[in-house]
Amino acid sequence: MEGPRSPRETELPQVLDFLNKKLRSEAPWSIAAEYPTALTPNNLHNMRIIADEERVLSHAVLKPLIIKSPHVIFKVGAIGSVVTDDQHRGQGLSTTVINDCLKSAQEQSCDIAILWTDLFDFYRRMGFELAGNEVSFVIEDNFEMPITNLSFSTDPKVAPDAIYRLYSSHSVNSVRTIEETRKFLSIPQTKIYTAWEPNGQLAAYAIEGKGIDLGGYIHEWGGSVPKLLSLLSFIRAKKGQPFTIICPKHSQNLIRELQTKSVTMNNGFLGMIKFVNFDQLAGKIKRSFRAEGVADIVLEKHPNHYVFGIGQDLYTINHETDMVRLLFGPMDYRAIGIFKEETVQKLEKVLPLPLWVWGWDSI
Ligand SMILES: CC(C)(COP(=O)(O)OP(=O)(O)OC[C@H]1O[C@@H](n2cnc3c(N)ncnc32)[C@H](O)[C@@H]1OP(=O)(O)O)[C@@H](O)C(=O)NCCC(=O)NCCS
Repeated sequence: MEGPRSPRETELPQVLDFLNKKLRSEAPWSIAAEYPTALTPNNLHNMRIIADEERVLSHAVLKPLIIKSPHVIFKVGAIGSVVTDDQHRGQGLSTTVINDCLKSAQEQSCDIAILWTDLFDFYRRMGFELAGNEVSFVIEDNFEMPITNLSFSTDPKVAPDAIYRLYSSHSVNSVRTIEETRKFLSIPQTKIYTAWEPNGQLAAYAIEGKGIDLGGYIHEWGGSVPKLLSLLSFIRAKKGQPFTIICPKHSQNLIRELQTKSVTMNNGFLGMIKFVNFDQLAGKIKRSFRAEGVADIVLEKHPNHYVFGIGQDLYTINHETDMVRLLFGPMDYRAIGIFKEETVQKLEKVLPLPLWVWGWDSI
């Protein structure tokens, strides 16, 4: 048995074959089509395998993302396609592969690592915790369009640069190219809904589904709130049944508008998050506070605890996972009742950090 190591270019078909058999046995497409920026020759150096002479036994892939937000530019290592051959489970192979992905994320200056899973306890063993915010709305009933002069389409042939233009206006988004947007648009089982201005410009878009995941879920969208709401109204009428839209918590205008409709709202987590370069992240956060006029922010990592607060209002945080939730949410500083009101008001200038990963970037 050898590894963890990156596959050689000639081994990529064998690795994809392993992933397809283990993770996509029912799908008529390759898993590489679902993650076109992660499972690609360009990202081979971020794939990790353990293999014996003939076969791949365990795999995981890291996809570093640069995510812009109003205060901080994050480098986030997304980890996905974690799997071990059935005959070799329970021997520590996945743990070894993931730890090697984390090492690589650290070497590539990622602030944090993130992954999406329902095996919470498996990843908690490696220090990941459910954190960040996600708000989802089930659009239960039809509602009236706020804007009536738009036309709507479900034609999947949409110019990637039009989508890219609206995507770029989000306050929190990953750095993508138009070429990457084109690849994302071709992911199997993706429905593309668009709203168009009378002059032919794209006004809003909504993307549903992504390979075997997110069927019935709008996971990427763009456009101004009234135009997007008009598009959602079109989708609800067209489907004739409820569907779900996933939103970042900082999309406050959209959330406020949706709450006036017949919806079911759910608060969830962005994903499972782990610090990778805490000191680097703390440096970014402290700079953000200084830019907001808060010079006495304290955010320090000691061998067995963290010290966090403002001025003299300081607390010791013993668990890394609590610190993750203090920085990325969900954490209501007022409700936990440890900080003075004056401190809470200052903390809320920057925290919780409005981190968001749009659906196409999740792996
Ligand atoms: C989950 C999976 C990747 C683990 O691979 P593995 O190589 O067996 O993992 P490791 O040997 O490193 O770790 C196994 C340990 O995790 C534990 N574990 C496995 N699945 C778990 C789960 N669902 N919840 C909690 N712990 C779990 C095992 O009990 C074992 O613990 P032990 O070492 O105390 O006995 C493997 O079972 C698999 O390929 N599953 C199918 C694909 C999948 O679900 N992938 C995850 C997608 S997010």
